[in-house]
Amino acid sequence: MTATRPQPRPGVLDIAPYVPGKSSAPGVAKVFKLSSNETPLGPSERAIAAYRAVSAHLEDYPDGSAQALREAIGEAFGLDPDRIVCGAGSDDLLNLLARAYLKDGDEAIHATHGFLVYPIATLAAGAKPVVAPETNYTVDVDAILQCVTPKTRVVFVANPNNPTGTYIPFDEVKRLHRGLPANVLLVLDAAYAEYVQRNDYESGIELVATSENVVMCRTFSKIYGLAALRLGWMYGPAPVVDAVNRVRGPFNVNTPAIAAGIAAIRDSAHVERAREHNTRWLAWLTEEIGKLGLKVTPSVANFVLIHFPDEKGRTAKDADAFLTKRGLILRQVTAYKLPNALRMSVGTEEANRLVVKALAEFLGK
Ligand SMILES: Cc1ncc(COP(=O)(O)O)c(C=O)c1O
Repeated sequence: MTATRPQPRPGVLDIAPYVPGKSSAPGVAKVFKLSSNETPLGPSERAIAAYRAVSAHLEDYPDGSAQALREAIGEAFGLDPDRIVCGAGSDDLLNLLARAYLKDGDEAIHATHGFLVYPIATLAAGAKPVVAPETNYTVDVDAILQCVTPKTRVVFVANPNNPTGTYIPFDEVKRLHRGLPANVLLVLDAAYAEYVQRNDYESGIELVATSENVVMCRTFSKIYGLAALRLGWMYGPAPVVDAVNRVRGPFNVNTPAIAAGIAAIRDSAHVERAREHNTRWLAWLTEEIGKLGLKVTPSVANFVLIHFPDEKGRTAKDADAFLTKRGLILRQVTAYKLPNALRMSVGTEEANRLVVKALAEFLGK
């Protein structure tokens, strides 16, 4: 039968729309937004200056290939700029990869508490998201490998993962890669790579450089503090770069983002300050919240996952309401299948101390 109105392709209406972290607390004068893993230090002053400088020429289209930015990224990480594609946030690149590599009936695997954009991008491409169980809130390589079928085309792994903050060591990433058929694309989403302080971690650069079916995605939204500009990049094998360049919007990255991104990536002192701040306060929050009797999943990123008891008056939802009234905005993570937890981004010293104090009050300690 002919439909009486235009119909989206199958899968589109199965998508649960992404709900971003709250950013306001009604009636509270001072709000601390700790719900979207943004940096409390803001961007580099040089990035702000570069952003302002290009405002004189907003009538011109951007450089569609973002060449100067790709060169700056290449210089910072020792990569060939021709193997880099920039996007309007790494969201853009994740969606472009899905669009280029998935078709109706294909399968894409992600972990139970994996980033929500993976199932969205998969369904939007007409494919089926397949969920691999995790172990201790951590990506389980064996579980992913067990989900592989002849229909699998993509595996998405956030390393570290959001919202759990856990990571898998490079040996495990390599084992995952070795277990995948050559026609499956392994997407390593390293949005939080800059924060990780572990000897056994590798963001994906090495694996991309030595294989034909691995891509790494990165973002300027986190440690570089440029989330508002929507800027991300991927590094991949030449054929993958070619495919993504064919499907992306011709001007998917704007001029202010390019200018600010170049300045941000060159300001390594600012990145170092942000990393040091995070290392210090991540440890402090984990310890202090733990002392209150709440479980905190060990995190290597710029946020912590706090688990609450399933007990009336003490649930994650109750805690969220209590904190929001005090202007402390954390993230409910029910959509990530974590109804008893809240995710908190590492904030300023003031925000971190206020959250711990408020949680103590909430728990009657
Ligand atoms: C794991 C992960 N990947 C990708 C992104 C998207 O970042 P972007 O702002 O670059 O689109 C996020 C943002 O929260 C994330 O947590």
